[in-house]
Amino acid sequence: MAPKKIYKLPVVSNKQICSDIYLMTLESSELAQILLPGQFMHVDCGSSDFKLLRRPISIFDCNPVKGTIAMLYKVVGKGTTCLANIKAGEIIDLMAPLGNTFALTSQNPLLIGGGIGVAPLRYLVRAFNEMNIKPTVVLGFANADQAQMAKLFADADCILSVCSDDGSIGEKGNSCQLATKFIKDNTFDAIYACGPEVMLKHIPALEGPRYVSLEAFMACGVGACLGCAVEKASGGYAHVCKDGPVFERDEVILHG
Ligand code: FES
Repeated sequence: MAPKKIYKLPVVSNKQICSDIYLMTLESSELAQILLPGQFMHVDCGSSDFKLLRRPISIFDCNPVKGTIAMLYKVVGKGTTCLANIKAGEIIDLMAPLGNTFALTSQNPLLIGGGIGVAPLRYLVRAFNEMNIKPTVVLGFANADQAQMAKLFADADCILSVCSDDGSIGEKGNSCQLATKFIKDNTFDAIYACGPEVMLKHIPALEGPRYVSLEAFMACGVGACLGCAVEKASGGYAHVCKDGPVFERDEVILHG
Protein backbone atom coordinates (compact mmCIF):
# COMPACT_ATOMS: atom_id res chain seq x y z
CA MET A 1 0.00 0.00 0.00
CA ALA A 2 1.24 3.49 -0.80
CA PRO A 3 2.63 5.52 2.14
CA LYS A 4 0.43 8.29 3.50
CA LYS A 5 1.45 11.90 3.07
CA ILE A 6 0.03 15.40 2.98
CA TYR A 7 -1.31 16.65 -0.36
CA LYS A 8 -2.44 20.14 -1.33
CA LEU A 9 -4.90 19.66 -4.16
CA PRO A 10 -6.90 22.02 -6.37
CA VAL A 11 -10.69 21.73 -6.20
CA VAL A 12 -12.25 21.00 -9.60
CA SER A 13 -15.85 21.30 -8.39
CA ASN A 14 -17.91 21.22 -5.21
CA LYS A 15 -21.54 20.47 -6.02
CA GLN A 16 -24.58 20.22 -3.80
CA ILE A 17 -26.31 16.88 -4.42
CA CYS A 18 -29.25 17.28 -2.03
CA SER A 19 -30.12 19.28 1.09
CA ASP A 20 -26.99 18.51 3.14
CA ILE A 21 -24.84 16.37 0.83
CA TYR A 22 -22.00 17.63 -1.39
CA LEU A 23 -19.69 16.03 -3.93
CA MET A 24 -16.20 17.53 -4.16
CA THR A 25 -13.88 16.61 -7.01
CA LEU A 26 -10.15 17.19 -6.63
CA GLU A 27 -7.29 17.04 -9.09
CA SER A 28 -4.42 14.68 -8.34
CA SER A 29 -3.00 12.36 -10.95
CA GLU A 30 -0.74 10.88 -8.25
CA LEU A 31 -3.48 10.02 -5.74
CA ALA A 32 -5.89 8.84 -8.43
CA GLN A 33 -3.34 6.10 -9.25
CA ILE A 34 -2.89 4.82 -5.71
CA LEU A 35 -6.15 5.16 -3.76
CA LEU A 36 -7.96 1.87 -3.22
CA PRO A 37 -11.68 1.20 -2.59
CA GLY A 38 -12.52 1.48 1.10
CA GLN A 39 -9.68 3.85 1.97
CA PHE A 40 -10.28 7.37 3.23
CA MET A 41 -8.64 10.77 3.44
CA HIS A 42 -8.19 13.07 6.47
CA VAL A 43 -9.24 16.46 5.24
CA ASP A 44 -8.43 19.93 6.55
CA CYS A 45 -11.73 21.75 6.17
CA GLY A 46 -9.98 25.05 5.69
CA SER A 47 -11.28 27.53 8.27
CA SER A 48 -9.06 30.56 8.81
CA ASP A 49 -11.17 31.82 11.75
CA PHE A 50 -10.89 28.86 14.11
CA LYS A 51 -8.82 25.68 14.34
CA LEU A 52 -10.65 22.57 13.25
CA LEU A 53 -9.60 18.96 13.42
CA ARG A 54 -9.28 17.19 10.10
CA ARG A 55 -12.34 15.19 9.06
CA PRO A 56 -12.21 11.61 7.78
CA ILE A 57 -13.91 11.42 4.38
CA SER A 58 -14.36 8.31 2.22
CA ILE A 59 -13.15 8.07 -1.32
CA PHE A 60 -16.29 8.17 -3.42
CA ASP A 61 -14.57 7.68 -6.75
CA CYS A 62 -11.25 7.82 -8.49
CA ASN A 63 -10.51 8.44 -12.16
CA PRO A 64 -6.87 7.62 -12.97
CA VAL A 65 -7.34 8.68 -16.61
CA LYS A 66 -8.59 12.17 -15.77
CA GLY A 67 -6.42 12.33 -12.63
CA THR A 68 -9.34 13.18 -10.36
CA ILE A 69 -10.68 11.91 -7.06
CA ALA A 70 -14.10 12.58 -5.57
CA MET A 71 -15.45 12.66 -2.04
CA LEU A 72 -19.11 12.67 -1.04
CA TYR A 73 -19.74 14.29 2.35
CA LYS A 74 -22.55 15.36 4.61
CA VAL A 75 -22.67 18.81 6.20
CA VAL A 76 -23.05 18.14 9.92
CA GLY A 77 -21.07 20.88 11.70
CA LYS A 78 -18.55 23.70 11.42
CA GLY A 79 -15.90 21.68 9.56
CA THR A 80 -18.11 20.31 6.85
CA THR A 81 -19.91 23.67 6.54
CA CYS A 82 -16.51 25.22 5.75
CA LEU A 83 -15.90 22.45 3.25
CA ALA A 84 -19.24 23.10 1.53
CA ASN A 85 -18.26 26.75 1.04
CA ILE A 86 -15.04 25.95 -0.81
CA LYS A 87 -15.07 26.95 -4.47
CA ALA A 88 -13.47 25.50 -7.58
CA GLY A 89 -9.85 26.58 -7.89
CA GLU A 90 -9.23 26.72 -4.13
CA ILE A 91 -6.72 24.34 -2.52
CA ILE A 92 -7.60 21.50 -0.14
CA ASP A 93 -5.05 20.10 2.31
CA LEU A 94 -5.48 16.42 3.07
CA MET A 95 -3.62 13.36 4.29
CA ALA A 96 -3.98 10.16 2.22
CA PRO A 97 -4.20 7.30 1.57
CA LEU A 98 -5.47 6.08 4.96
CA GLY A 99 -7.00 2.85 6.20
CA ASN A 100 -7.36 -0.63 4.80
CA THR A 101 -9.38 -1.62 1.75
CA PHE A 102 -12.33 -3.77 0.75
CA ALA A 103 -11.15 -7.30 -0.15
CA LEU A 104 -12.06 -7.84 -3.80
CA THR A 105 -12.48 -11.59 -3.43
CA SER A 106 -16.15 -11.90 -4.42
CA GLN A 107 -17.51 -13.09 -7.76
CA ASN A 108 -21.11 -12.18 -6.90
CA PRO A 109 -21.09 -9.32 -4.40
CA LEU A 110 -24.00 -7.63 -2.65
CA LEU A 111 -23.32 -4.01 -1.69
CA ILE A 112 -25.53 -2.38 0.96
CA GLY A 113 -25.45 1.33 1.75
CA GLY A 114 -27.43 3.53 4.10
CA GLY A 115 -27.53 7.34 3.90
CA ILE A 116 -24.13 8.96 3.50
CA GLY A 117 -22.78 5.40 4.00
CA VAL A 118 -23.18 4.96 0.25
CA ALA A 119 -20.02 7.07 -0.14
CA PRO A 120 -17.37 4.32 -0.36
CA LEU A 121 -19.52 2.03 -2.51
CA ARG A 122 -19.29 3.85 -5.86
CA TYR A 123 -15.54 3.27 -6.13
CA LEU A 124 -16.09 -0.33 -5.03
CA VAL A 125 -18.56 -0.82 -7.91
CA ARG A 126 -15.95 0.56 -10.30
CA ALA A 127 -13.34 -1.87 -8.94
CA PHE A 128 -15.69 -4.83 -9.47
CA ASN A 129 -16.58 -3.58 -12.95
CA GLU A 130 -12.88 -3.61 -13.82
CA MET A 131 -12.93 -7.30 -12.84
CA ASN A 132 -15.92 -7.79 -15.21
CA ILE A 133 -18.22 -8.29 -12.24
CA LYS A 134 -21.60 -6.57 -12.04
CA PRO A 135 -22.50 -6.11 -8.36
CA THR A 136 -25.98 -5.90 -6.88
CA VAL A 137 -26.33 -2.63 -4.98
CA VAL A 138 -29.05 -1.82 -2.44
CA LEU A 139 -29.15 1.77 -1.20
CA GLY A 140 -31.43 3.06 1.52
CA PHE A 141 -32.21 6.68 2.33
CA ALA A 142 -34.40 8.63 4.74
CA ASN A 143 -36.46 10.17 1.94
CA ALA A 144 -36.55 11.13 -1.75
CA ASP A 145 -34.33 14.18 -1.17
CA GLN A 146 -31.50 12.07 0.27
CA ALA A 147 -32.03 9.49 -2.48
CA GLN A 148 -30.56 12.00 -4.96
CA MET A 149 -27.29 10.35 -3.97
CA ALA A 150 -28.38 7.22 -5.85
CA LYS A 151 -28.18 9.17 -9.14
CA LEU A 152 -24.41 9.19 -8.69
CA PHE A 153 -24.51 5.43 -9.38
CA ALA A 154 -26.42 5.87 -12.66
CA ASP A 155 -23.32 5.41 -14.84
CA ALA A 156 -22.08 2.38 -12.89
CA ASP A 157 -22.54 -1.15 -14.21
CA CYS A 158 -24.58 -2.60 -11.36
CA ILE A 159 -28.06 -3.87 -10.48
CA LEU A 160 -29.28 -0.95 -8.40
CA SER A 161 -32.26 -0.85 -6.01
CA VAL A 162 -33.27 2.07 -3.84
CA CYS A 163 -35.54 2.18 -0.80
CA SER A 164 -36.53 4.87 1.67
CA ASP A 165 -37.64 5.03 5.29
CA ASP A 166 -40.72 7.09 4.42
CA GLY A 167 -41.58 5.27 1.19
CA SER A 168 -41.29 8.47 -0.85
CA ILE A 169 -38.99 6.68 -3.29
CA GLY A 170 -38.55 2.97 -3.96
CA GLU A 171 -39.77 0.36 -1.54
CA LYS A 172 -40.58 1.53 2.00
CA GLY A 173 -38.02 0.23 4.50
CA ASN A 174 -34.30 0.20 5.10
CA SER A 175 -31.56 -1.24 2.91
CA CYS A 176 -30.98 -4.30 5.15
CA GLN A 177 -34.64 -5.28 4.90
CA LEU A 178 -34.55 -4.97 1.11
CA ALA A 179 -31.21 -6.79 0.88
CA THR A 180 -32.65 -9.70 2.89
CA LYS A 181 -35.29 -10.19 0.18
CA PHE A 182 -32.60 -10.24 -2.54
CA ILE A 183 -30.55 -12.82 -0.67
CA LYS A 184 -33.43 -15.31 -0.82
CA ASP A 185 -33.31 -15.36 -4.64
CA ASN A 186 -29.56 -15.06 -5.23
CA THR A 187 -26.27 -16.74 -4.50
CA PHE A 188 -24.19 -13.84 -3.25
CA ASP A 189 -20.80 -14.86 -1.91
CA ALA A 190 -19.98 -11.67 0.04
CA ILE A 191 -21.60 -8.55 1.46
CA TYR A 192 -19.96 -5.12 1.51
CA ALA A 193 -21.84 -2.60 3.67
CA CYS A 194 -21.48 0.94 4.91
CA GLY A 195 -23.88 3.06 6.92
CA PRO A 196 -24.87 3.86 10.49
CA GLU A 197 -23.83 1.29 13.09
CA VAL A 198 -27.45 0.37 13.83
CA MET A 199 -27.81 -0.59 10.16
CA LEU A 200 -24.55 -2.54 10.01
CA LYS A 201 -25.59 -4.45 13.12
CA HIS A 202 -28.53 -5.83 11.16
CA ILE A 203 -26.97 -6.74 7.82
CA PRO A 204 -28.40 -10.08 6.68
CA ALA A 205 -26.76 -13.42 7.42
CA LEU A 206 -24.75 -14.93 4.57
CA GLU A 207 -22.52 -17.91 3.98
CA GLY A 208 -19.51 -15.84 3.09
CA PRO A 209 -17.71 -12.77 4.39
CA ARG A 210 -19.70 -9.69 5.39
CA TYR A 211 -17.47 -6.63 5.25
CA VAL A 212 -18.56 -3.48 7.05
CA SER A 213 -16.95 -0.07 6.68
CA LEU A 214 -17.21 1.80 9.99
CA GLU A 215 -17.57 5.50 10.58
CA ALA A 216 -15.85 7.00 13.63
CA PHE A 217 -14.74 10.28 15.13
CA MET A 218 -11.06 10.61 14.18
CA ALA A 219 -8.71 13.15 15.70
CA CYS A 220 -5.37 11.93 14.36
CA GLY A 221 -6.34 9.43 11.63
CA VAL A 222 -3.11 7.46 12.09
CA GLY A 223 -3.59 5.31 15.21
CA ALA A 224 -2.04 7.70 17.73
CA CYS A 225 -4.95 9.07 19.80
CA LEU A 226 -7.34 6.12 20.49
CA GLY A 227 -10.25 8.38 19.51
CA CYS A 228 -11.64 5.86 17.03
CA ALA A 229 -11.48 2.70 19.15
CA VAL A 230 -14.01 -0.05 18.44
CA GLU A 231 -14.49 -3.17 20.57
CA LYS A 232 -13.29 -6.41 19.05
CA ALA A 233 -15.44 -9.51 19.52
CA SER A 234 -12.32 -11.41 20.60
CA GLY A 235 -11.56 -8.81 23.29
CA GLY A 236 -9.63 -5.56 23.29
CA TYR A 237 -9.95 -2.75 20.81
CA ALA A 238 -9.15 -1.98 17.19
CA HIS A 239 -8.55 1.45 15.65
CA VAL A 240 -11.01 2.30 12.89
CA CYS A 241 -8.41 4.60 11.29
CA LYS A 242 -5.51 2.13 11.24
CA ASP A 243 -7.02 -1.38 11.47
CA GLY A 244 -10.14 -0.38 9.49
CA PRO A 245 -12.30 1.24 8.37
CA VAL A 246 -13.24 -2.14 6.84
CA PHE A 247 -13.82 -5.07 9.20
CA GLU A 248 -15.47 -8.45 8.96
CA ARG A 249 -18.91 -7.97 10.55
CA ASP A 250 -18.32 -10.51 13.35
CA GLU A 251 -14.85 -9.19 14.14
CA VAL A 252 -16.23 -6.10 15.92
CA ILE A 253 -19.00 -5.35 18.42
CA LEU A 254 -21.54 -2.98 16.90
CA HIS A 255 -23.95 -0.86 18.89
CA GLY A 256 -27.16 0.93 18.09
FE1 FES B 1 -6.56 8.69 16.39
FE2 FES B 1 -7.75 6.59 15.18
S1 FES B 1 -8.16 8.69 14.95
S2 FES B 1 -6.29 6.56 16.77
